Amino acid sequence: MSNDPITLLSKSEIEKMRLAGKLAAQLLEHLGQMVKVGATTQELNDEAERWTKAKGARSAPLNYAPGGADPFPRSICTSINEVVCHGIPNPKRILKDGDIINIDVTPILDGYHGDTSKTFFVGTPSPKAKKLVEVTEKCLKLGIAEVAPGKRLGDIGAVIQNYAESHGFSVVREFVGHGIGSKFHTAPQVFHYGTRGKGVRMKPGMSFTIEPMINEGIWKTKMLDDGWTAITADRKLSAQFEHTILVTDDGVEIFTKI
Ligand code: MF3
Ligand code: CO
Ligand code: CO
Repeated sequence: MSNDPITLLSKSEIEKMRLAGKLAAQLLEHLGQMVKVGATTQELNDEAERWTKAKGARSAPLNYAPGGADPFPRSICTSINEVVCHGIPNPKRILKDGDIINIDVTPILDGYHGDTSKTFFVGTPSPKAKKLVEVTEKCLKLGIAEVAPGKRLGDIGAVIQNYAESHGFSVVREFVGHGIGSKFHTAPQVFHYGTRGKGVRMKPGMSFTIEPMINEGIWKTKMLDDGWTAITADRKLSAQFEHTILVTDDGVEIFTKI
């Protein structure tokens, strides 16, 4: 995990990550079309599982149990409103008008992971939900724009933190982006806050996620008794967007795009 060595992807691994990333993006787009008032998070999960298998891939979250944790019991994460991340799909959770829902998918194709998420609106968002989601999406975009060989991971964290806080929002500290490839979560940790010029230096062939979780209120989170669901400590809204990227010879490639 975070004290693994940082590995660089070979040419053939990069090709596999392109395919896994594209599949993840297609899955997320497909599930996004199912987000409607009255749908349940279990329906989203079941369609993700069916679709992923039909493509010859499998769902990395299903039974994922890092460090002896309770295995994650579903194939995707669905995190609604005050849920920061790792929400568990459930047949009783019916989407209602005004909810915001992050769907986070990670198919494994030919041994390689594509990890991506987006926050969707159910029906009509409140102005504050709309602002939070727009700012969070822009945080991911600004973070990706900092990726280039020779730059530092702190450049990514700093730009995200500055943008989020300039809008009166806060950056979650307890969950971070991560190296990814044949492993789901490996080094380096990618903080969504920090200081320009500090941290690991980026090199061509490094692959990691950027996945800022931005809160309407305070940054602190709380874990529910299920051992997975993280919620905001003040129960205010949280949003998230995620891409899996590659550091290239001259900048960045987004793997999780269609
Ligand atoms: N996809 C999440 C991430 O972005 C991890 C989910 S782990 C699970 O890193 F077990 F909760 F699914
Ligand atoms: Co991730
Ligand atoms: Co993810």
